Amino acid sequence: MAHYHLQSFFRVPVGADFVKFTIKTTAPEKLETGLLALCVFTDGVFPLPYNAIDKASQGRLSALVSAGELNKKAGACLLLHGLAGVAAERILLVSLGEFASFGDKAWRDALASVGKALADTLAEDAAIALEEIALPPERDFVWALRHASRIIADHAYRFDAPRAKQDSAKRGARKIAFLLASEPDPAQKEALLHGKAIAEGMALAKDLANLGANVCTPTMLAETALDLGKQFGFDVDVLERADMEKLGMGALLAVARGAAQPPKFIVMHYRGGKKGDKARKNGKTPAHPIVLVGKGVTFDSGGISLKPGAEMDEMKYDMCGAASVIGAVKAIALMDLPLDVIVLVPATENMPGGGASRPGDVVRSMSGQTIEILNTDAEGRLILCDALSYAERFTPDCVIDIATLTGACVVALGRIPSGLLSTDDALAEELTQCGLNSGDRVWRLPLWDDYQELLKSNFADMANIGGRFGGAITGAAFLSRFAKAYKWAHLDIAGTAWLSGDAKGATGRPLPLLGEFLIARAKQREH
Ligand code: BES
Ligand code: MN
Ligand code: ZN
Repeated sequence: MAHYHLQSFFRVPVGADFVKFTIKTTAPEKLETGLLALCVFTDGVFPLPYNAIDKASQGRLSALVSAGELNKKAGACLLLHGLAGVAAERILLVSLGEFASFGDKAWRDALASVGKALADTLAEDAAIALEEIALPPERDFVWALRHASRIIADHAYRFDAPRAKQDSAKRGARKIAFLLASEPDPAQKEALLHGKAIAEGMALAKDLANLGANVCTPTMLAETALDLGKQFGFDVDVLERADMEKLGMGALLAVARGAAQPPKFIVMHYRGGKKGDKARKNGKTPAHPIVLVGKGVTFDSGGISLKPGAEMDEMKYDMCGAASVIGAVKAIALMDLPLDVIVLVPATENMPGGGASRPGDVVRSMSGQTIEILNTDAEGRLILCDALSYAERFTPDCVIDIATLTGACVVALGRIPSGLLSTDDALAEELTQCGLNSGDRVWRLPLWDDYQELLKSNFADMANIGGRFGGAITGAAFLSRFAKAYKWAHLDIAGTAWLSGDAKGATGRPLPLLGEFLIARAKQREH
């Protein structure tokens, strides 16, 4: 994990790179391990490893399952200790539900249960048996290995909270074997690496997001990006306030004005595309990279349009877009994907300091278009619009921005999908499919021209808010005015990037979706 320049009382958070994966093809009943997880249907379709264990234990498993001990609900578990005739110390039976109603969701629920159990067991090493028969319809083994690996590694994530007394109890398997019927082919092996790489990107994203805004500042985001560049050998530029002034980023600077922390504009250049490309040799980014933009508001107080106090702590998560694109570069680098990717992170706090922007202020964006700031709490679009203008210099293949942009998106869609808004139907369709494939889903909202009228201002080219209704759409409609030079999609992750309440914490979304998208794009390039 990258070294963070944390205040001294913080320890470096523990991420998913803590787990080690191996592949085994041993006979299931002979596998010596602390815990062996087996996924089974509850209605009599039994995968082979299950049958092997059942036979070795003289029918103990089938007796329990037919007695109904294993709940029919997919993801339900039964943990058995010291099963006679079996080498594994523990057998974890995990329900896939009934064969007839089996699909992606049941499979994901089962794997999540395996992940939870492995993260909580006293066993130091564990194994999960996977095989072709127990796959959802239309899914192949490469898909299963990639997602199993990601889900299991992701569950190993823990935020290492700074407490007076560190928890010394060791729980969670650190060595995890995938028990397969035969040696995997290269694509299957790669799938396991890919899944883990995505989980490592998610772990970084979650660490950054979970840290308080006193620690995770724009400067700290920039240092993390620089560290990643050093670690993996790619260029990172960090633009300072003076650079932003030269570029005319008046909208971004208007948000930064109320904060004591200096703003940073982070540019990461991952050049993994065709080797020997001329531009690359000259240290330049080749034309048509994929550009990812992440909203990096390290704390959103609302500014002068101050937010109410309840749950305001959660506005430390207003940099989850930034965290996800920084995590994405880490995952891309770990996967060594043959892609050119540029990551842009406009990073600032939104604070109500004496120099803060006021409602009614008019500012000029980098594009030249002027904006009347009617509400300083609609700051995400102000920092993103300048980043979208900056993206033009790369002649992008496409630009995807990721932002905790609107509370209205959470009202519209709940916490299941992220909002997707796009001016390009093909890109929107591609992202929708990647969402379904990864389980990290998106739902498209319309972006018709009709909505543009809501942004009308008497004092500038546009206002930064569009009134009471359709807030997720008017937010995106605002951004679309700055994204005309390329194919563009916007992901509103306000409802999906973190959980509240007892389970409060970052989710690492939409990294599974981005991982799927980038892997698919890399595959297209190979052909
Ligand atoms: N970061 C917030 C959006 C947000 C709010 C995300 C709550 C998750 C939970 C964003 O900057 C914001 O304040 N948006 C305003 C926009 C409004 C002023 C037009 C909102 O959603 O209320
Ligand atoms: Mn806000
Ligand atoms: Zn915000």
